[in-house]
Amino acid sequence: MSALLDVRVAAIRELTPVIREYRLEALGGALPGFSAGSHVQLHLPNGRRNAYSLLGDPADTRQYRIAVRQQEASRGGSRYLHQQLRAGDVLRLSAPANLFPLHSEARKHLLVAAGIGITPFLAHSRELLRQGADFELHYAYRAGVSDAYLAELRQLLGPRLAEYPAGQRRLDPAALLRGRPLGSHVYACGPQSLLLDLKEQAAAQGWSDRRVHWEAFAAPEPGQPFRVELARSGRQLEVGADQSLLEALEANGVEIPNLCRGGVCGQCQTPYLKGDVEHRDHFLAAAERSNSLMPCVSRGCGSPILLDI
Ligand code: FES
Repeated sequence: MSALLDVRVAAIRELTPVIREYRLEALGGALPGFSAGSHVQLHLPNGRRNAYSLLGDPADTRQYRIAVRQQEASRGGSRYLHQQLRAGDVLRLSAPANLFPLHSEARKHLLVAAGIGITPFLAHSRELLRQGADFELHYAYRAGVSDAYLAELRQLLGPRLAEYPAGQRRLDPAALLRGRPLGSHVYACGPQSLLLDLKEQAAAQGWSDRRVHWEAFAAPEPGQPFRVELARSGRQLEVGADQSLLEALEANGVEIPNLCRGGVCGQCQTPYLKGDVEHRDHFLAAAERSNSLMPCVSRGCGSPILLDI
């Protein structure tokens, strides 16, 4: 795993009653550059590691900006950031990685965000404006709750911004995708229901997978506790109900490469030899599931899992 960066919380701003923005600055020198769509993992003092999109202008490396929504069912990440983190505190984070880049061959970019899913598109929008690219941003939100950055986006994008305030106008993926010129790419970030609907509609309208991009930084769903054995050392671990297998491994000093921590990127793929696994990832092919799992989201659901590590 690459070296971690130490940053200071320069400022915290309340954007809505449930969304806060954090400005993070380097303790010394500049921060590593990043491309639009990148995220960083915060390594919180309570042991949680969460991934957040960098929403600032990629051209500005004096500071990073992230925005965090307080989750009602927080496992400790968003609650810690909202309730305990103060300006001046020092945080550790991973260097930026990009699982959600803009595609250079696209002739038109359709950006689709719901709620806190707006964050990667703030960086994308600035980058696309700089490139003089053809794009639209479709933003679904709940007024006064999840409408972070709305005023800024209206000013920045003018007619390129289409708004879908809850209760007034519904974001309809089928209509949004219909009749788009060849070479259009769509990018979506938001709740699982929106991503599934958009992917289904894109497939039904004949969009190739290559032109449909999405990002989901969902925290792993809790489940039942389960047991794991590491074949090479014989060590046995317990995975708690609100802990992922990846978190349990890390808590016991076993580092597994990872990027998204949401079952999407494929980085954490780990072989196993035995056990009943509930796969919850969006990465493995059906045939791979008999001997591989993604510890960031997969759980045991019966006999203990014997990992081949
Ligand atoms: S870290 Fe990305 S799939 Fe597990």
